[in-house]
Amino acid sequence: MARITAGVATSHVPAIGAALDNGRSAEPYWKPLFAGYEFSKQWVSRQKPDVAVLVYNDHASAFSLDIVPTFAIGCSAAFQPADEGWGPRPVPVVEGHPELASHIAQSVIQQDFDLTIINRMDVDHGLTVPMSLMFGQPERWPIRVIPLAVNVVLFPPPSGRRCFELGKAIRRAVDSFDEDLNVQVWGTGGMSHQLQGPRAGLINKEWDNRWLDRLIDDPDALAQMPHIEYLREAGSEGVELVMWLIMRGALDAKVRTVHRFYHVPASNTAVGHVILENGS
Ligand code: DHB
Ligand code: FE
Repeated sequence: MARITAGVATSHVPAIGAALDNGRSAEPYWKPLFAGYEFSKQWVSRQKPDVAVLVYNDHASAFSLDIVPTFAIGCSAAFQPADEGWGPRPVPVVEGHPELASHIAQSVIQQDFDLTIINRMDVDHGLTVPMSLMFGQPERWPIRVIPLAVNVVLFPPPSGRRCFELGKAIRRAVDSFDEDLNVQVWGTGGMSHQLQGPRAGLINKEWDNRWLDRLIDDPDALAQMPHIEYLREAGSEGVELVMWLIMRGALDAKVRTVHRFYHVPASNTAVGHVILENGS
């Protein structure tokens, strides 16, 4: 049977991708950031996951304001890097897992979550930057990916509670897939950041770290946090953090923290990163 063995969460700042793509990762500004992912790269190469359900948000790259799905699952065999205005990132095509993706869609929709099924989609920094952070710059990504796009760009985004419950539904779906697969669930976005308006540049280290503590040890209560607290304390784009609750919902109630990293600044953003394993 397929099984979910671990969860990975990381911020997905586009400037991190640009730093890597332009050979700037050893510069003093970026070095401490990339150092925080050295353990993660070794860990993931030891774990050898077959598939990641990669929870991220599209930033008006694949979806325009014409259509904004709340939850959308990518069921195709391949996803091209999106052109976000400077040409597509020079990273490999993202290979999907149509069979498992279709099974998750079938199972999760029958569990009353209305996923939008996407059969063709380009993927932006929200998905490709976490891939680069975890795998570096390979010729081909060593994992298949099921993109799960969540709307956190146009209000109203889904609640933390609903995201947490969706994670549980994804767990049940994966557990009932009849093929031996090592599956991880990744959550991306956050931590505190606000990109526009008078509060642009907002960073709230204390709140971010308390939120991480609760994500690990008390996710049920954390899932009740209303959007207004994310906006007030973590900035308008801090609400991306609800996506980490999908990852957390897909894991055991008690998890093992194998890595935790927090760094400021990366562009206008605080960067958070945790790796949680099941089976503690
Ligand atoms: C930026 C964009 C993002 O999507 C994000 O999550 C963090 C930062 C940016 O444009 O700097
Ligand atoms: Fe983002």
